[in-house]
Amino acid sequence: MDIEWKGKQITSYLNTKWLGRSLLYMEQLDSTNIQAKKLGEEKAIQGTVVVTERQTAGKGRRGRNWISPEGNCYFSMLLRPDILPEKASMITLVAALAVCKAIEEITQLEVRIKWPNDVVCNGKKLCGILTESSTDELHLTYVVVGIGVNVNQKEFAPEISHMASSLALLKGEDVNQARLLGSIMNWFEVYYEHFLDTEDMSLLLQEYNMLLINCGKDVRMID
Ligand code: BTN
Repeated sequence: MDIEWKGKQITSYLNTKWLGRSLLYMEQLDSTNIQAKKLGEEKAIQGTVVVTERQTAGKGRRGRNWISPEGNCYFSMLLRPDILPEKASMITLVAALAVCKAIEEITQLEVRIKWPNDVVCNGKKLCGILTESSTDELHLTYVVVGIGVNVNQKEFAPEISHMASSLALLKGEDVNQARLLGSIMNWFEVYYEHFLDTEDMSLLLQEYNMLLINCGKDVRMID
């Protein structure tokens, strides 16, 4: 399948006004977050999305690597919100909500959010989200939300196999990556606009809490 066609396939699942309308698709990248941040510095438009099939230097939270074999979804969204920098971390929660809704829509699997932003099913992690931002004095110049979803991966390293799974393993069949990507972006654009209306989670809190596994339980903060 040629590269341009795959990019177009993703676009065909989009109902968005602005998100993903500028879409960069590459078969392999170091990290979609690294590339989206470069585009952020280069003044690329808000809503630009970078997608790849595999990453050679995928980044996880707390400086960890995100092992990124072919078959999954790896993408980063470039945003330019006009909000205070300390509010940017809430966009990660918005993304977790969008990923849950999209997975439920495409696979009918019952997924949950493990606070603050891991998406899990049967106690196993299906998705990681890494939000990075850049500020210029007091203002945000851009925010990059990077999302990795374990879609069609069948094997996990022994040290993580007890805590990670994929949609294909849970569903018993492969899942269309382009369709899932389109759906995540569709949900994200709607929720993100609600977030911008109030600059907090108030309009989304009910839906977020309904999906939260550890709602009302004590959680240990690591960072
Ligand atoms: C976590 O540690 O849970 C966050 C993992 C985030 C991984 C995604 S994959 C797409 C994007 N590009 C990266 O390098 N990281 C994020």
